[in-house]
Amino acid sequence: MLTTLKDILTAADKGGYAVGAFNTNNLEITQAIIEAAVEEKSPVIIQTSEGAIEYAGMEFLIALISTAAKAPVPVAMHVDHGKNLETIKAAIDAGYTSVMYDGSVLPYEENLKNTLQVVAWAKPKGVSVEAELGAIKGVEDLVSVEEKQVFFTDPAQAADFVSKTGIDALAISIGTAHGAFKFKGEQRLDQERLSAIDAAVMVPLVLHGASGVTEELVAKTREFCDQLEDCNRLSGAAGVPDSEIVEAIKRGIRKINIDSDLRIAFTAGLRETIVRDHKAIDPRTLLKRSKQLMKEVVRHKMELFGSKGRAKQ
Ligand code: G3H
Ligand code: 13P
Ligand code: ZN
Repeated sequence: MLTTLKDILTAADKGGYAVGAFNTNNLEITQAIIEAAVEEKSPVIIQTSEGAIEYAGMEFLIALISTAAKAPVPVAMHVDHGKNLETIKAAIDAGYTSVMYDGSVLPYEENLKNTLQVVAWAKPKGVSVEAELGAIKGVEDLVSVEEKQVFFTDPAQAADFVSKTGIDALAISIGTAHGAFKFKGEQRLDQERLSAIDAAVMVPLVLHGASGVTEELVAKTREFCDQLEDCNRLSGAAGVPDSEIVEAIKRGIRKINIDSDLRIAFTAGLRETIVRDHKAIDPRTLLKRSKQLMKEVVRHKMELFGSKGRAKQ
């Protein structure tokens, strides 16, 4: 059933677990996400970036996610990293149950002002709002403690931001990065900072850039590389270990964003099919293994995040 992000995260907060927010761009990804949610009896957040909206069109994406939301599990339809205010307004009017406004690169006052505008549009329609404070950068980008202070979320500023905006969820920066290359050295998050932010603000916290990019998953994409010219082996790829995710949930993370792991699984499945079945020309044949591998990723996350079995029937 179509649900707001606020309802999903309020239940997660009470239960002490997190809910996965998975990025979709097309039919197969959407089906993999919702089929996994139904099998795991888990609430789920299905999100579309501005890039996804540009690629597939908002109406197609809404049709896909609304259809997925007919399943007997709570589903939030969410805009991920909305930077364009017009797109966010259009999504609120078109039926998304939740939007993220990402003003994290803007000066603080401007981020505050734009977030307030989004809340003013969203609240009367019962749409939830996530906003971001602090830039989601990799720890490898930070050479000094001073730089960390600039990019990582400051607990006192987070408290000010949440109380002034009335948002429903806050995305924070504690050492993750988007994509498959998150760390050069130790794969660790600033868990102490997370606890300090959680103590300072009342709303559920969101972890972006949370894909695991495990050696096992990356190996699946490499398995057929020898048969493909100039194949990207994702050398040096590194993600957030499951142990760091478990610790972050203990300390207050309630929404966890996953895109890269789905991309890697999709690619692994496609490479496997193309190499193994040279005769295949039917898109349904070509995409079958990709969907299967993405579904396995989502199921694993639901177990890891503790959302498995939490969907009220
Ligand atoms: O955080 C970004 C997500 O991975 C979406 O990426 O903007 O390429 O769709 P995208
Ligand atoms: P990953 O690149 O780690 O999957 O992060 C996705 C994300 O944060 C989407 O908003
Ligand atoms: Zn993100």
